[in-house]
Amino acid sequence: MTYKILILPGDGIGPEIVEQARRVAGWYAKNRNFGFTTEEDLVGGISYETHGDPATDAMMKKALAADAVLFGAVGGPQWDKLPFDKKPERGLLRLRGDLKLFANLRPALCFDALKDASTLKPEIVSGLDILIVRELTGGVYFGQPKETTTLPDGQKRAVDTQVYTTGEIERIARVAFELARLRGKRVASVEKSNVMVTGALWRDVVHRVHDAQFRDVQLTDILADNCAMQLVRAPKQLDVILTDNLFGDILSDEAAQLTGSIGMLPSASLGAKGANGRQPALYEPIHGSAPDIAGQGLANPIATILSFGMCLRYSFGRVEDATLLDKAVERVLAEGYRTGDIMQPGMTKVGTSGMTDAILKALDGLS
Ligand code: IPM
Ligand code: MG
Repeated sequence: MTYKILILPGDGIGPEIVEQARRVAGWYAKNRNFGFTTEEDLVGGISYETHGDPATDAMMKKALAADAVLFGAVGGPQWDKLPFDKKPERGLLRLRGDLKLFANLRPALCFDALKDASTLKPEIVSGLDILIVRELTGGVYFGQPKETTTLPDGQKRAVDTQVYTTGEIERIARVAFELARLRGKRVASVEKSNVMVTGALWRDVVHRVHDAQFRDVQLTDILADNCAMQLVRAPKQLDVILTDNLFGDILSDEAAQLTGSIGMLPSASLGAKGANGRQPALYEPIHGSAPDIAGQGLANPIATILSFGMCLRYSFGRVEDATLLDKAVERVLAEGYRTGDIMQPGMTKVGTSGMTDAILKALDGLS
């Protein structure tokens, strides 16, 4: 079986971190009989500079035909003033929307070697293992109307629309419950049902899905503001967090910080399985393009490398190979290799490719 991977490095540190995932993929091709072909294209600011569009139709066509998309990062200060439909982020949002990637999986795992790297006390974060299941194609990110108008008195008025349907909530709830069954069997459903009608619908529908099919999983409701607090107060009480697009965006950055650095967190964005068994999928680190350190070989490649690991697990069904990669990352961290963002006294500081060298060596050692 030969898989087709579309590589979209994007902007800022995107190219250099995606290159590291490509090296790891190369290791699997060579050592684990893993056949794949890659194609590469532009997305985000660089695509806007080249084509006047952050996501061209030609690129989208390749993405739709690929078994998986590996995505770096998009954005940068030079594009901040562009109209919304030209902004680099549009490239990512079009991919999520057009590929119908409604389920965003964001594991927040604190590696033992990094428990001192978090700004929280080690006993609060050590052993942390949370999975955020974020709805990704609905809510305020995609709701219409989304516009700025000028009022008769000259003021401007901007509107974003938060909107969810029963079906959208049902399908993401099912994903969360099914994943919870493979882990701690606990789901915390997060919304603002005290002030938002979308939140009230969210709560109702999640309970209906739970009561009909997933009574073996423990379900609790947490208001989003309280969840933000619980994440820094006692994060280990949480197993799977099921939440909407906007709250998921915010809470996943918060959860990232618990693990030591946002440079550690991978993600998978999955669509529904088609009749032919194919499931659209995109893998990306949850961090951004970090323009301040771009091109200097300083970025932490682990989030992107672990995103390739999620691709092995979810798109290619290679669970053992994915676990091997998790173990390799764990080993290099235990051996003391650190990029700048997770550097601690007495550890060995490495750059982007140096970290990958260590991971490749660990893969050799472990296999
Ligand atoms: C993320 C990012 C994106 C989002 C941006 C780049 C559009 O912050 O994946 O979390 O807001 O979803
Ligand atoms: Mg975000």
